[in-house]
Amino acid sequence: MTRRNFLTLLDFTTEELDYVVRRAIDLKAHRDEGQLSEPLKGKSLAMVFELSSTRTRVGFEVAMSELGGQAIFLSPADTHLGRGEPVADTARVLSEMVHIVMLRTAKHETIECFAEHSSVPVINAMSDLGHPCQLLADMQTYVEHRGDIRGRKVAFIGDGYNMCNSYINASRRFEFDLTIATPKEYAPDPERVRCNASRVRLVNDPAEAVQDSDLVVTDVWSSMGHEKEQQHRRHCFKGFEVTLELLDRASPDALFMHCLPAHRGEEVSEEVMEDQRSVVWQEAGNRMHSQKALIEFLLLGRV
Ligand code: CP
Repeated sequence: MTRRNFLTLLDFTTEELDYVVRRAIDLKAHRDEGQLSEPLKGKSLAMVFELSSTRTRVGFEVAMSELGGQAIFLSPADTHLGRGEPVADTARVLSEMVHIVMLRTAKHETIECFAEHSSVPVINAMSDLGHPCQLLADMQTYVEHRGDIRGRKVAFIGDGYNMCNSYINASRRFEFDLTIATPKEYAPDPERVRCNASRVRLVNDPAEAVQDSDLVVTDVWSSMGHEKEQQHRRHCFKGFEVTLELLDRASPDALFMHCLPAHRGEEVSEEVMEDQRSVVWQEAGNRMHSQKALIEFLLLGRV
C-alpha cells in the first residue's frame, strides 16, 4: 500500500473523507454494541506533542488501544527533539520503530519536514495552519445529527486561524457554503479565501454570518501560542461572542460546535454551551471515533 499522510483535509479526496466519516460512525456503533476487533495488534503510533492537548491525545491513545495497537506519547521536554535533534533525523528514527506518527506542532513546517523524511504515515494533530482531525469529528457529528452537510450553510465566528483554515478546506471537500465573520485584523489569509471564493464568504458582522445558517462554529480568541496577546484580542473580538441572541438568527434546526477548550464569556456564552443546539460533547467524543477511522484508513486502507 502506498504511504499516505493526512497533513490537511486536501490530502484526501471528497470520496475518501466521506469514507472516513462513515467508517467513524460505523466503528462507533460497533463499539456501542461491544464489538471491538483488534486489526492493529502489534502496531504502534508515536504521538509528538509540542503543545498541550486533552481531546487529541486521549482520542488517539484510546483509538489505538481499541484497535489492538499501542500509542507512545513523546514531548520535546522528554525527548531529544527538545535538545536540538533535527526533525528529519527524528522522522527517520521513528519510522524504523513505529507504524504511524501524529504531530502537534507550533509550526506547520515542522510537520511537513517530518513527513518528508518519514517512511510511515504522518498525521497533523494540529498546527498553526490547520486542525484537520478536528474537522473529521465535526463532520461526523453533523452527519450523525442532521445528515449530509452538502449544500448547507456554515458560519464560522472568530479568529481566522487554524480552525478557520480547516473549515475553508472542509467547505471545498464537503461542499458546503461557509461564511466567516472575523474582526478585520484577524481575517484568514486572503489568498486562501480567494481560492475558495465559490464556497467561502468573508464578513465582519457575526449576525450576517449566522443568519439562516445550519451550523455555527467558533474557537477561542487566543489559540495556543497567542496567550500574550489575550488582552488585545479580547478588545478586538468584542461583539464576536456566540450568544443565544446570535444563535437564534440561525436556522431553527442549527447546531453549535466548538473544538474546545471553551472560554465561556469570551467566544461563547455559558447558555450556548448548554443549549440543546450545542453538540460540543458529542463532537469531542467523536475525536476518538474519527481518529480511529483515520488510523485504520492510513494503515489498512478500506476494510
Ligand atoms: N480540540 C482539541 O484539539 O482539543 P485538545 O487541544 O484538548 O487536543
